[in-house]
Amino acid sequence: MTSRTPVDLYGKAALPPCDGPRLKPFKYRKESIEFVSLLSEPPSSSPTGACAHVFKVKFGKRGYYALKIFKFKKIQDLRGEQWALSNENVSDDDLVFHSDPFYAECRAYGKIEEIEESMARKSSKASQRVAAQQIQSSTKQTKRKSRSQKNSRSQVTSKHSVDREAHRLAVPCYGFMGLPPTFEALLAERFGIFDWDRSSSDESMSQDIRAPFRALVKQLVENKPAFGRPRKMLADLKILRAHEIYQKDIAARNYMNGLLVDFGAAWTSPHWCLETLSRNQLHYELFSDLFEWDHMMREEIPSTVVRAAPLTSRLLSLRDYRELGHDMKYKNA
Ligand SMILES: Nc1ncnc2c1ncn2[C@@H]1O[C@H](COP(=O)(O)OP(=O)(O)OP(=O)(O)O)[C@@H](O)[C@H]1O
Ligand SMILES: [Mg+2]
Repeated sequence: MTSRTPVDLYGKAALPPCDGPRLKPFKYRKESIEFVSLLSEPPSSSPTGACAHVFKVKFGKRGYYALKIFKFKKIQDLRGEQWALSNENVSDDDLVFHSDPFYAECRAYGKIEEIEESMARKSSKASQRVAAQQIQSSTKQTKRKSRSQKNSRSQVTSKHSVDREAHRLAVPCYGFMGLPPTFEALLAERFGIFDWDRSSSDESMSQDIRAPFRALVKQLVENKPAFGRPRKMLADLKILRAHEIYQKDIAARNYMNGLLVDFGAAWTSPHWCLETLSRNQLHYELFSDLFEWDHMMREEIPSTVVRAAPLTSRLLSLRDYRELGHDMKYKNA
């Protein structure tokens, strides 16, 4: 057993504390929080064992957001999950920081932010150049001109954020936050939620000194269709994959407003699975998003001709693929 790197959920440092992309804390985490409603399925009707509960919340005067509060995950459960045969040599840190749904989502969103920023920067390069020239000449001018410099800067910023919006690859995530364990009583009373999967040692402690909740703050999506244009959805998925973010749970319930919203099962490079699985395992695992995407589209938008999986692979039905993939896992481990 290796010792685990401590994590400060209330601090300023981005998470998780390991190699690869990280997510920043939510800027307004210190504002008062009001729970409005439960957005995810109520516990009684979610037999699939979701990894989190999602709430509509209000942060002080900042407005409404979606707050995804993650259940706790024991390290022995992570080790026991599907990759049990190949994870013996993986450190506790790598296992937790790559595979625990909270950290998996932090890493994926950390990387998504980098990609969106870089796409926005590229597409607004020309207008930034023009604005930069204006700024340069205005520095030599009078006070009045320095006001116009300010304006040019704000124009650059607003153009930049417009571009970022145009390059959204997922429902925006504004950062992570820790929530004091004392919220447990409120969530039980208001929403009948008790299933946080705490360890027995945590459970045996009084509520105020238990582990804090881990949460992500996202844009609230309400009254919007789950799907957008299939070509755009597929293009987004391919961009994510090209940057080695494999979402690993493509399903209609994980799309909102045409964008992916759930990265709790994602593999984001560097990831222990990408380094330790055999070639065959990786081949099937990495293609699964494409097969699942086609399957989802056949169910949800039968009229679409947009397909994700390459033609040759499509000759294999999804069921065959799953059986084969599952079989390969254990043959090649
Ligand atoms: N930003 C959001 N705005 C509005 N509703 C949301 C938002 N994020 C999630 N939800 C609702 O909560 C549900 C569960 O969210 P999410 O998929 O992130 O959690 P999960 O625990 O991983 O769920 P599952 O395991 O069922 O996929 C979504 O299907 C959606 O109905
Ligand atoms: Mg989900």
